[in-house]
Formats: sequence, C-alpha cells, structure tokens
Amino acid sequence: MKLSDCTLLWNREVSPGYYHMGLEAPERYNDAMPGQFVMLKAERGGTLLRRPFSIHDVTQRDGKTIVVLLYKVVGANTRVYGGMKEGEVLSMLGPLGNRFTEPEAGESTFLAGGGIGIAPMLLLARRMVAGGAKPADHTVFIGGRTQDDVLAEGAFRALGFPVVVTTDDGSAGEKGRITEPMARLLEEKSPSKVYACGPHPMLVGVARLMEGHSALCELSLETIMACGMGACMGCVVESSDTDQPYRHVCIDGPVFDARTITV
Ligand SMILES: Cc1cc2nc3c(=O)[nH]c(=O)nc-3n(C[C@H](O)[C@H](O)[C@H](O)COP(=O)(O)OP(=O)(O)OC[C@H]3O[C@@H](n4cnc5c(N)ncnc54)[C@H](O)[C@@H]3O)c2cc1C
Ligand code: FES
Repeated sequence: MKLSDCTLLWNREVSPGYYHMGLEAPERYNDAMPGQFVMLKAERGGTLLRRPFSIHDVTQRDGKTIVVLLYKVVGANTRVYGGMKEGEVLSMLGPLGNRFTEPEAGESTFLAGGGIGIAPMLLLARRMVAGGAKPADHTVFIGGRTQDDVLAEGAFRALGFPVVVTTDDGSAGEKGRITEPMARLLEEKSPSKVYACGPHPMLVGVARLMEGHSALCELSLETIMACGMGACMGCVVESSDTDQPYRHVCIDGPVFDARTITV
C-alpha cells in the first residue's frame, strides 16, 4: 500500500475557491508520471473516504520532494483542506493510475484544461520540457467560466509554452469555448497528440473535434471515486471494446484514448 502521511508546506488561495497546496512527500513521487493522481484524506475532519486529486507538479526544495496539488473547494473534504495550515498532516495514497503518452522528439501537441482540469497538465508540460520538447512547438489551452477559473497560466508561460485562454463570459482571453481556438489552430498545425482534462461537455467537444484527425487524443476523466484501487466499481465508464465493456477510471485510467471510451 503506497500510503504516506505528508506534511503541508503551503496552502494558498490562488483564485477565489481555488488552492495551491505543497506537501512534503516520499522520494517515490519524483517518478510520478503526468496524469497520475493521489487519494487524499485530512487527519481531522472530512469524510471517511479519500478523494482523488491530480498531481499538478513535483518539485524539490532543500532535498525534500514536494507534491503540488491544485484544488477547488466543492464539498466536505475540500472545505477542510482549504482551512488547513502549514505543518498539518494529510494522508496520501499514490501515485495512482496511468499516464499521458508523452510526445516523441519533433512532435507538436495541444494541452487543454477546463477549470480545475488544468491540474494534470502542468506536470505533463514540465516532463515534456525535461524530455527535450521545445515549448514553442506546443500550445496550452486554458478555459474557464470566468477569469477566476483560469488557473496556472503563469506557470505554463514561465516554462515557455504559448497559452491561449478562453472564458465563457469574456472576462479573460477570448470569449467562448476552448474548442473554438483549438479548431482554428488545427487548420494551421497538425498536432500528433492532444491532451484534455475538464468538465464532461468540454471532453465531448474535444473528442468530437479530433474525430477524423490522425492525432492521438487522450482524455483524463474525473469521475467520482470511492476506493481508487479497482475495488468498488464507483468509477466505471463505458468502453467501446465489446470484450471489455467497462473500464475503471482509477486503475485503467484516468487517461484514456478518446476512441476507446464512451464520453
Ligand atoms: C482522477 C481525478 C483527478 C482529480 N483531480 C482533481 C484536482 O486536481 N483538483 C480538484 O480540485 N479536483 C480534482 N478531482 C475532483 C475531486 O476529486 C472532487 O472535487 C472531490 O471529490 C471533492 O471532494 P469533496 O469531499 O470536497 O466534495 P464532495 O462532497 O465529494 O463533492 C461535492 C460535489 O461535487 C460532486 N463531485 C465530486 N467529485 C466529482 C467529480 N469527479 N466530477 C464531478 N462532480 C464531482 C459531488 O457529486 C458533489 O455534488 C479529481 C477527480 C479525479 C477522479
Ligand atoms: S474508485 Fe473504486 S473501483 Fe475505481
């Protein structure tokens, strides 16, 4: 069991209702793969069951391994996390799940995150750079309902990635859906891989947009999870494979080739 007690190093509200949390973690998290997640539980308060969170980033400081999470306060557990202070302890199970397929040398990609769905894309971007990718060959699309829901833009820009922002109300970037600038850029560029994470309608939009394109389109799904280990069936999605009609998001995913699942 990959269970660890992790000390909170920081927990900052970065936009109304959204927090950036740094946790001192075991060394094995240095090998965490982009797309993987953890199941988290506060020492006090919250529910009995853990909650899943994407690994947003992994950094080192003073010889410590730090796992960074980006989360939105939506319910019983995230409300508890939002009130936690430096030095408090969270129990973390992970790293869990599979990974995004990183690009080969010379390939270009689109990384798309809607709202809190941007969380797994930063570790992906960082690992791509570490693997030799030139940020200018790739494009990050960040969508949100309003400017408050546009997250991590500065972190991607600091890595050198071009970033396109859309909001539903036009309060930041282009007004409209994230798939609109993606569709325009597809007329100029042929990415070999497209990665997306976000609300269900956005994933449906990205999957439809990529139909008929040769690019591998990988979607990271955020279903409700109870165990995170394949034991409860809480996270199953329908697959297009008749031999295996259901897939567990927790152990077969959370990242799926859009052609293999029903979104
Ligand atoms: C693989 C994976 C990665 C995730 N990564 C992140 C992340 O990086 N940051 C982040 O903020 N959240 C992430 N989530 C979603 C996060 O797990 C939920 O928001 C969390 O369960 C909230 O816990 P809570 O107890 O505060 O709220 P709850 O009481 O569990 O939920 C509050 C409300 O949100 C609904 N809800 C809970 N989970 C989901 C979900 N996955 N999709 C849609 N509605 C849901 C519930 O039905 C309820 O109405 C991820 C989910 C998965 C499966
Ligand atoms: S969360 Fe229990 S089987 Fe996936």
